[in-house]
Amino acid sequence: MNIVIIGTGNVSHHLCRTIENSKVLNLLQLFGRIEKLPENFNQKIVYTNNLDELKKADFYIICVSDDAILEISDKLIFKDSIIVHTSGSTRLDILSKHKNHGVLYPLQTFSKNRELSFKNIPIIIDANSKKVLNEIKKISLQLSKNVIVCNSDQRTLIHISAVFSNNFGNYMNVISENILKSQNIDPQILKPLIQETCDKLKHLTAKKSQTGPAVRNDKITIKKHLSLLKGSKYEKIYKTISTEIIKLNDEL
Ligand SMILES: NC(=O)c1ccc[n+]([C@@H]2O[C@H](COP(=O)([O-])OP(=O)(O)OC[C@H]3O[C@@H](n4cnc5c(N)ncnc54)[C@H](OP(=O)(O)O)[C@@H]3O)[C@@H](O)[C@H]2O)c1
Repeated sequence: MNIVIIGTGNVSHHLCRTIENSKVLNLLQLFGRIEKLPENFNQKIVYTNNLDELKKADFYIICVSDDAILEISDKLIFKDSIIVHTSGSTRLDILSKHKNHGVLYPLQTFSKNRELSFKNIPIIIDANSKKVLNEIKKISLQLSKNVIVCNSDQRTLIHISAVFSNNFGNYMNVISENILKSQNIDPQILKPLIQETCDKLKHLTAKKSQTGPAVRNDKITIKKHLSLLKGSKYEKIYKTISTEIIKLNDEL
């Protein structure tokens, strides 16, 4: 199975490494905008920065920023190949100019400087026909053992959930770091707490894992915290989230 990857960002980096280690998949070529193959990629990869030089492959994986997917798709001219994108919130039909198209969305947070294994990453797939879906499934199962079929709306809702869990969750840690740094306290002291917050989700639902003053409806502590945060940009966030957590009590 010959694969061409388009884009040299975070997702491309991880996909390239995984495909290079596969016995079934063959990374035929990588396309990027810049002149030279970036250093974080295996320098043996066949690389081009000219779309006219793209080789004919079974499968093209578009791993570029969401707002560039259409532009890249329009430039691909391979009639019988399968073209997919890797975006959580971009609809399947953005690739509708291609006879065979689909989505291969890996549900994970990827950064170039963090190595991780694809094996357990859920891959959300979709396609414009059963036949194409089957082909995308075959490839995805070479990357991960966890492959799930979803339509565009379901995939976007999965992406929204990921934004809450990962992006917003991490931003909460940015706030914590800032608060501690403002008092010259080493933010590392929170690491065991953050670790345990993640670890206990292996055994408990998020709702059951909730602790803290808001879920206890501890108005005295909340008032004390809000008075210390008064005038700071975190006051509103603290208030809004606490109000929602207090409501969790009714559902517990
Ligand atoms: N990062 C994640 O955690 C993650 C997870 C799942 C899915 N995704 C999806 O995967 C896709 C790629 O994300 P990413 O995180 O890998 O992005 P990224 O690290 O920001 O890389 C984006 C890539 O797109 C290229 N690009 C941007 N505009 C372009 C254009 N007009 N023409 C050609 N190339 C262009 C960039 O080229 P330059 O380097 O030259 O700027 C870069 O190679 C997106 O659809 C994203 O939604 C990301």
